[in-house]
Amino acid sequence: MKKLIAGNWKMNGNLSANHALLAALADALRVKPACDVAVCVPAPYLAQVQSLKAASIDLGSQDVSAHPSGAYTGEVCAAMLKDFGVRYAIVGHSERRQYHAESDALVADKAKAALAEGITPIVCVGETLAERQAGRTEEVVKRQLAAVIHTNGHCISEIVLAYEPVWAIGTGKTASPEEAQSVHSVLRAQLKAATDQSARVKILYGGSMNAANASSLLAQADIDGGLIGGASLKAADFLSIIAAAQ
Ligand code: 13P
Repeated sequence: MKKLIAGNWKMNGNLSANHALLAALADALRVKPACDVAVCVPAPYLAQVQSLKAASIDLGSQDVSAHPSGAYTGEVCAAMLKDFGVRYAIVGHSERRQYHAESDALVADKAKAALAEGITPIVCVGETLAERQAGRTEEVVKRQLAAVIHTNGHCISEIVLAYEPVWAIGTGKTASPEEAQSVHSVLRAQLKAATDQSARVKILYGGSMNAANASSLLAQADIDGGLIGGASLKAADFLSIIAAAQ
């Protein structure tokens, strides 16, 4: 399966920094890489990134409303994202689950809203440190994925899944390739039970992935790419991870 390297800029960037980062990426990615590449940017910069990015880079948002339109102040719906050429929408990132109290059911509805507009949701699942230490990792990620399967039925084969252990995000602590693979294989089995198209679902790893650890993570059987935070803000680091995925 073709790997996907997606950058999650989170709440970082400004017009001039985005310009410089995209120029460096566009220059290096003039020839389409062997893996898929995307950048998931803050909503106000979608138009800027749409106009500046190389054709080999896909555009992503970091969230999407569960509603199609209407009186939802502050929210951005999938049809609006579509207007700006958005291909991917991250849903259920742990920072949204944690700081915005997003439930498994809401995350599943957001995935459905994205799919309804032909946008691929990148559904994030992952356990906290306390949950891992309590031996609850499998139970937590399976519960999070089950909600998305329940709401989306056979369309589950159209999502991208991302395993992001919360304790590895922005901490410099990465899951070892074996730890990550063991959770990825659990998720793969759960997808397999839900759809006969499970082989097409990419399962990304996210959490302190960087130029140094990318190759060993990406070499695992069920790791089909990466969702990159901090390292996606530096062109050289992001490009090294892309190189490791080819
Ligand atoms: P870091 O790569 O900064 O740990 O962030 C990972 C992440 O949350 C990507 O969505």
